[in-house]
Amino acid sequence: MTKRLKGMLDILPEDGEIINFIISNFEKIVKLYGFSFIRTPILEYAELYYRSTGITSDIVNKEMYTFYDKKERLLSLRPEGTPGVIRAIIENQLVLPQRLYYLGPMFRYERPQKGRLREHYQLGLEIVGEKSPYSDFEIIKIANQFFSQIFLKDTTTLVNSIGCEKCRPKFKEVFLSYLKDKIEFLCPDCQERKEKNPLRIFDCKNEKCQKIIKESPKVKDFLCFECKDHFDKFLSFLEKSNIKYKIDENLVRGLDYYTKTTFEFISESLGEKISIGGGGRYDNLMKELGGNDAPSVGFALGLERILFALKENKNLPKEKKTLMVIYDCEDSFYEALKLVDLLRENNIPSYINPDLESLKKQLKIADKLNMKYVIIIGEREREKGSYLLRDMISGKQEEIEKEKIIEKLKEVINV
Ligand code: HAM
Repeated sequence: MTKRLKGMLDILPEDGEIINFIISNFEKIVKLYGFSFIRTPILEYAELYYRSTGITSDIVNKEMYTFYDKKERLLSLRPEGTPGVIRAIIENQLVLPQRLYYLGPMFRYERPQKGRLREHYQLGLEIVGEKSPYSDFEIIKIANQFFSQIFLKDTTTLVNSIGCEKCRPKFKEVFLSYLKDKIEFLCPDCQERKEKNPLRIFDCKNEKCQKIIKESPKVKDFLCFECKDHFDKFLSFLEKSNIKYKIDENLVRGLDYYTKTTFEFISESLGEKISIGGGGRYDNLMKELGGNDAPSVGFALGLERILFALKENKNLPKEKKTLMVIYDCEDSFYEALKLVDLLRENNIPSYINPDLESLKKQLKIADKLNMKYVIIIGEREREKGSYLLRDMISGKQEEIEKEKIIEKLKEVINV
């Protein structure tokens, strides 16, 4: 048997229901805030990610699925959504500002472990062409409103500011001088990071590096006037809201394009190391990719991680009650078909198996499929103008007049 690839998931029907619940709530909320849907290709030129996510990021450096196609073009499966969205805005000359949302698969060749997949789906938002700290706050507000809407109650928002190209050189100087006598204690990756992008060291999971970082100077304390003012205003919007947040001075994010605000969302049930979402401001990316100057901010949520967190929380959406209509002969089958049409017109989900099996066999199928109710249509019921409604949990059966079946089902199924 051919098995699925390591680190990739099959979402089976039980989880599929929850996934649909998550997606539909996300779409409902982002539309309220004026976002429109965008879809960009899963396959792009690798260069797009080298120039945006960045060659010093682990994502580009170690985790991309990159290969040559038949015409020797170097391509990558998209590891994240932001670069494709910005490329699409530039290439299609969309007017700014734009508020866009997307959902789709991302690919990262990571070592699979709890919550870390090689194919994961993201629900993402990008606000392109708005510079106010209010936009940063609004992104956080949307995420939190979404978490509460899906009953994910144990989330915290971590925030930080990593400044801009004006304030970072000063910080880099101080940070490198702090590291001077500690270099030998850094992991080999961080020794390299120190040369290429020292800020990335804050992102290292290695315990020794974490210890060094704990005591180190923080980028947040070296912000220029503009970045500090932006961060203060962002925090004051948060203060005025009911959103639970924490400043995490080590939160630099593992992608190269961020400026000013960075943030991550964590859920207690999955722990601090597995964020359920993250994002930040990226004021220079559009220009760096050949477009106009367009200050931007966005986030992406990991769909599977939200699913895992909801399952840990046991705050799952109410299971839909399902119903099967069964019949004893061909004439009853036609009557049953009319009934399922009527049920569906009344928004009552229903299933009929058209293979003309015996009533006993159909009841077995209903049992296997975990149906909560079965409506039985036999010759006797047809003659009497009624249906038999069987509660599959209690095994009780009740005869209902044909005309009253919708009313009765709405009462028991709660649609
Ligand atoms: P990111 O933090 O790399 O940001 O990914 C966003 C979210 O995707 C993570 O917080 C996590 O929930 C989920 N995720 C990432 N990698 C994996 C994985 N291997 N397995 C399962 N879930 C994963 C970005 O991708 C940015 N594009 C976000 C952004 C949008 N920034 C600005 N706009």
